[in-house]
Amino acid sequence: MILPIYLYGHPILRKVTKDIPLDYPDLKTLLDNMFETLYKSDGIGLAAPQIGLEDRILVVDLSPLSDKDPSFKDFKRVFINAHIIEKDGPEESVEEGCLSIPDIHEKVPREYRIRIQYLDENLQSHDEVFEGYKARVIQHEYDHLEGIMFVDRISGIRKQMIRSRLDKIMRGDVKCSYKVKPAFKK
Ligand code: NI
Repeated sequence: MILPIYLYGHPILRKVTKDIPLDYPDLKTLLDNMFETLYKSDGIGLAAPQIGLEDRILVVDLSPLSDKDPSFKDFKRVFINAHIIEKDGPEESVEEGCLSIPDIHEKVPREYRIRIQYLDENLQSHDEVFEGYKARVIQHEYDHLEGIMFVDRISGIRKQMIRSRLDKIMRGDVKCSYKVKPAFKK
């Protein structure tokens, strides 16, 4: 099932998510829905708050970018009860976008390497290190689990420059090829 994506300004995107219980009902259905919603919107990552849930779950699929890096081809991952426990540099600024902030792309500084503990879709636990673009995408989605959005990480001047566009997104005054849920109705 394709779910609407909550847009910038919706309060759910500012909540810090909670770990889910291991007997979470219909987890497989939720994960299937998250991937289906991700593919429908041509995204590469999606976090549960973006579909209105306060659950500590994010999904990533870098296969659409496999021409950039062959290791992206099979990089379809589920991170449940994810906790980044270490980050280290060097910091790099690379352009990012977000399904909850349509049509806005800004360079975002992030650290090169992360260490993350999480459960996969079979609830097996992992403690893994990611680097480069993979670490970036995971950090972007992980931020959503902490109530942070990429525009919080850009300079004040850049944020001023996109302010009116962010206001439009909050009002739902935006054209999207996928189903969305704005903070306020037009
Ligand atoms: Ni995002």
